[in-house]
Amino acid sequence: MNIRQQLNDIFQAAMIAAGIPAECSPAVAPAKKAGFGDYQANGAMAAAKKVGSNPRELAAKIVDNLDKGEIIEKVEIAGPGFINIHLNNAWLGKTLVAARADEHLNIDKVAEPQTVVLDYSAPNLAKEMHVGHLRSTIIGDALARLLEFQGHKVIRQNHMGDWGTQFGMLLAHLSDKLKSDDAEVALSDLEQFYREAKIRFDEEEGFADRAREYVVKLQGGDAECLKLWQQFIDISISHSEEIYEKLNVTLTRSDVYGESRYNDDLPVLVQELLDRGIAVEDQGAIVVFLEEMADKEGNPSPMIIRKKGGGYLYATTDLAAIRYRANQLKADRILIVVDARQSLHLQQAFTAARKASFLPESVTLEHCAFGTMMGEDGKPFKTRTGGTVKLAALLDEAVERATALVAAKNPELSPEQQAEIGRVVGIGAVKYADLSKTRTNDYVFNWDSMLAFEGNTAPYLQYAYTRVRSIFRRAGIAPSELTGAIELGTDAERALAIKLNQFGEVLDQVAKDTFPHVLCTYLYELASAYMAFYEACPVLKEGVTEAQKQSRLQLCDVVARTIATGLDLLGIEVLEQM
Ligand code: ARG
Repeated sequence: MNIRQQLNDIFQAAMIAAGIPAECSPAVAPAKKAGFGDYQANGAMAAAKKVGSNPRELAAKIVDNLDKGEIIEKVEIAGPGFINIHLNNAWLGKTLVAARADEHLNIDKVAEPQTVVLDYSAPNLAKEMHVGHLRSTIIGDALARLLEFQGHKVIRQNHMGDWGTQFGMLLAHLSDKLKSDDAEVALSDLEQFYREAKIRFDEEEGFADRAREYVVKLQGGDAECLKLWQQFIDISISHSEEIYEKLNVTLTRSDVYGESRYNDDLPVLVQELLDRGIAVEDQGAIVVFLEEMADKEGNPSPMIIRKKGGGYLYATTDLAAIRYRANQLKADRILIVVDARQSLHLQQAFTAARKASFLPESVTLEHCAFGTMMGEDGKPFKTRTGGTVKLAALLDEAVERATALVAAKNPELSPEQQAEIGRVVGIGAVKYADLSKTRTNDYVFNWDSMLAFEGNTAPYLQYAYTRVRSIFRRAGIAPSELTGAIELGTDAERALAIKLNQFGEVLDQVAKDTFPHVLCTYLYELASAYMAFYEACPVLKEGVTEAQKQSRLQLCDVVARTIATGLDLLGIEVLEQM
């Protein structure tokens, strides 16, 4: 259900009937202020300019031709030609009854499902997964869930950094360790393992040379070496999977399609670009010069795709990945969720891929960029001693802190219950704190604000959900038993009903713009509208008629399900009790 779209269609028809050219948009949007209707059609002004008439008169003409249908109660013209739209109460109630009857809350599947390749998480396996990969993982997973909910086919691509010169050092160290340990043991603490390898590389006589030999052997396809590499990769991926599991992230091993998968294609790709004159040799390196991205002086932006010594680069792999995703995976839309600091790199890759016609024009390439997670000191988030924060440790701390809060609030619960609530709240808080911020901005990581039970936080929404659900327990009624119409007798009920009906259009917007915070803001506003309703409209008190009770409980049910569904799309769980 997307009211905005429906109203837009109705007004478009009225405009055409009024003789306005079809390319003029009705520009329907939710009203910004109370007292101006529920929605507004603001297109009359632009249309008047286009056809050279008076905007207020044109607005009147549109209104004359309007088929209000069931959805519009009345309209009025305001100011220079705004059309304020008041929705019909009976229709609002009816759509919510219909939403209740549908397990998908009557949210339409998209008319034209796309194949969306979604590249996210993508940790580098030569390092421990750290907080830097948290944002990509959380944001990407929310987008994956939401696009799938809408009916798109989402192909997750975990573009793990599983190749490169750093592996020489790691494999040399691993082969030594395997003389006394098995691989599981040797790699049980990856952080420790990386540190040891690095120290040996920097300090131990002869080790750096061995590391370099390993790189050459690995690249040459040496069987022993590849076996070692495979062991290393497998165990590293398992470590990432533990994090995904803790985080309630949908990525699985079958979504891993790391950089190494493109190895065979890299020489082919470079040769092809050379043959086609798109890449040229420049001081021994192979370069694509991008005039499309020239600087102020007109110098094209250089993108190196093969180094002087013959090595390939991150950029080369990304070009191969774009080609693979468009041609093999048949993507209609390619989304890459990665740090804003990689903007130039991706813009180059996108521009070069277009230049080389690696993908049909219709396929979109989108960089879903995000800012940096900052510490309280306003610098990138680090441990107190200045080290990178391990993701696993961060998540454990979130659960510990949330469990302590829950234990203080509800000492009567059993330790097991407290631990389960603490897990759901702690993980939810970390994810929501991230998702609720405009992703392109930096944000400050703060335990107290993310774990607060007030404000735009996960605990607030999770708590709102349990409160709604508790009404049903107190009433001794299951939602499935409710019947009758949803009557919107008061302003608070009406405001809540309109909010609930806007869920579909919010999802459409997030799917289009890929900004999950828009969904968070919506859920927060919905919970606030519910609180206002709850204050104003008794549900179970004496004096409430049976019809009112049935109607209000149905509203409560749609609220609970909308919050639960919305949070689920963000990858956040809810609880019946907390
Ligand atoms: N592994 C990369 C990093 O940690 C992220 C990869 C993002 N995806 C891509 N196609 N470049 O920076």
